[in-house]
Amino acid sequence: MRRVVVTGLGAITPLGVGIRRTWSRLLASECGIVSIADREPVARWRELPSKVAGIIPEGSKDEGKWKASDWLDNGEERRMARFTQYAIAATEMALNDAGWRPQKQEDKEMTGICLGSGIGNLEELYNTSVVYDKAGYKKVSPLFVPQLLINLGAGHVSMKYGLQGPNHAVTTACTTGAHAIGDASRFIAFGDADVMIAGGSESCIHPLALAGFSRSRSLVTAYNDKPSSSSRPFDRDRGGFVIAEGAGVVILEELEHAKARGAEIYAEVRGYGCSGDAHHVTAPRDDGHGAFLAMKRALKNAGVRPKEVDYINAHATSTPLGDAAENSAIQTLMLGEEGFDTASQISVSSTKGAIGHLLGAAGAVEAIFSILAVKDNTIPPTLNLHNLDEKFNCNYTPLVSRQKEVNVSLSNSFGFGGTNASLVFSKYR
Ligand SMILES: *[C@@H]1O[C@H](CO)[C@@H](O)[C@H](O)[C@H]1NC(C)=O
Ligand SMILES: *[C@@H]1O[C@H](CO)[C@@H](O)[C@H](O)[C@H]1NC(C)=O
Ligand SMILES: *[C@@H]1O[C@H](CO)[C@@H](O)[C@H](O)[C@H]1NC(C)=O
Repeated sequence: MRRVVVTGLGAITPLGVGIRRTWSRLLASECGIVSIADREPVARWRELPSKVAGIIPEGSKDEGKWKASDWLDNGEERRMARFTQYAIAATEMALNDAGWRPQKQEDKEMTGICLGSGIGNLEELYNTSVVYDKAGYKKVSPLFVPQLLINLGAGHVSMKYGLQGPNHAVTTACTTGAHAIGDASRFIAFGDADVMIAGGSESCIHPLALAGFSRSRSLVTAYNDKPSSSSRPFDRDRGGFVIAEGAGVVILEELEHAKARGAEIYAEVRGYGCSGDAHHVTAPRDDGHGAFLAMKRALKNAGVRPKEVDYINAHATSTPLGDAAENSAIQTLMLGEEGFDTASQISVSSTKGAIGHLLGAAGAVEAIFSILAVKDNTIPPTLNLHNLDEKFNCNYTPLVSRQKEVNVSLSNSFGFGGTNASLVFSKYR
């Protein structure tokens, strides 16, 4: 099987535009979660039980903030949904980082994209429904359908860079970003492409989205006045996830291809495993069996023993049930291993304390954090973890980042519908 390495990273997160800015703020224990109570239309936002979100800061590129015109011309901005705009910008950053611009026809044919979103363009769907209800057919924009389709994030990227390799989109709720990277790595391993742009993008911070997630009792409601305390994975006082937006994109490359052009290699994509809970639409099995199977399969695929994993970036979204199930799954995986007598030897963190839950982009952004953990030998912190839930006892890296040699990292992503995926990264040797 051909080996796959990571040669470029790009991200837009509530901590800023750009992966370097995001990573340094994450390691400095900063938080990107803010209040949304004063947004327009105020009546719709104020009535929501959850009034916090991870929002991309608006402003100029030099300050690490988002302005669409820094990345897109007017026509593009009008034609593209916000999640597509983020995907374009994160791709541009990742390609620059990798130093890869396919120009020759054969290079374009061997470069592809696999990028998805969980929800896509809710705002346009909402606005169009409202005007259609009032004024009918003539008010529906010809851009409506292309702005709605989730695969148009990938589609626009492929058109912009002339990519003629696989053009694929994933939509598996909050597992989207991880599945996109895993599937893309297989395209390379199987010879369908030499280079793949892979990741996830999400932008659905709309009162209707929060209303829906609130109705399914998924969102935190107890910290509306203290946004930066609201996402607290594994903490005793956690009470639901914080919705967030952004994008994460990685450049994956066949090893020999990367070496031949002298590319910098961040890490190797070693393993990928998927599973289904086959249990419930939104709730995990208590014992975390689905998560356990995904991790086990990813490690088997990687040829790595559980005890060789130096860091786990947990999916943990700060919900009571989800964090508990994942804690069980991690312990089941590790504690049978020789060399692991106590769970406190296992290094884990959930970066959602700092950025919230980016839904379809979460798995991609968190894969990037797991890659950087390997590259920089640093474990990012779990913010707001002041009182570890008494039932848990792994080392969840509370509050501050930690230096530790990380040869192997594992990133978990789980989604509604009971879909679970894990990715394994290692130092390239
Ligand atoms: C949707 O409608 C609102 C209210 O008129 C407007 O502020 C917003 O820009 C519209 N969004 C899109 C994507 O057209
Ligand atoms: C697998 O994904 C489903 C969907 O969210 C989720 O309910 C469950 O948390 C995951 N499995 C476990 C045990 O964490
Ligand atoms: C990482 O890998 C190196 C080289 O194989 C090895 O010497 C070192 O002990 C490993 N570190 C850990 C924490 O496993």
